[in-house]
Amino acid sequence: MTIGVRHARAGDRRFIEALGAETAHIGVSAIRPADADTTARAFHRLLAFCDERPKTVTLIAESGGIPVGFLLLVTDIPDDVTQSPQAFVAYMAVEPAVRRRGAAAKLLAAAEEEARSLGLPHLSLMVTADNAPARSLYRRSGFTDERLVLTKRVEPTGS
Ligand SMILES: CC(C)(COP(=O)(O)OP(=O)(O)OC[C@H]1O[C@@H](n2cnc3c(N)ncnc32)[C@H](O)[C@@H]1OP(=O)(O)O)[C@@H](O)C(=O)NCCC(=O)NCCS
Repeated sequence: MTIGVRHARAGDRRFIEALGAETAHIGVSAIRPADADTTARAFHRLLAFCDERPKTVTLIAESGGIPVGFLLLVTDIPDDVTQSPQAFVAYMAVEPAVRRRGAAAKLLAAAEEEARSLGLPHLSLMVTADNAPARSLYRRSGFTDERLVLTKRVEPTGS
């Protein structure tokens, strides 16, 4: 099975919406539960945010002409601390049946190439600490930890 990566076309929209909504719950952490409907809605909001930005690059991994994965790359929001320009992976996912065949690694390599061609010196993303497959993928693809999001549960008054 050969996997290639190309830019998204209008016809890929339903694939992206479906796979994104199906997989978004994987970003839920152990300390902040949410149901699948909530995370699907959150994915649709993220997609709308990306749509509003004309410089967003959407990449599709395909096998035999059939989409098997996607990556949303935001290219116009600099790093909030340094203001250094960057390419930011807003989300990526691969169909469960096609995992561990290199589709995600190819999507990330293509995203890196997009960043290079746009003159953006960094490729960044956020990942949930509990998401072991994604963390392993990113480590393997050359990403290093830069910042951490720390969260503490706040008990409601009177509990
Ligand atoms: C994370 C995800 C995108 C990986 O996609 P994939 O196409 O299976 O990844 P690849 O086949 O390109 O894997 C490349 C490397 O990443 C690592 N990796 C990927 N999945 C892994 C897993 N389940 N366990 C351990 N390592 C894994 C491995 O090092 C792998 O290389 P190898 O297969 O030669 O060992 C996929 O599991 C997915 O869609 N998950 C749900 C959505 C998600 O979590 N998105 C990320 C949001 S931040």
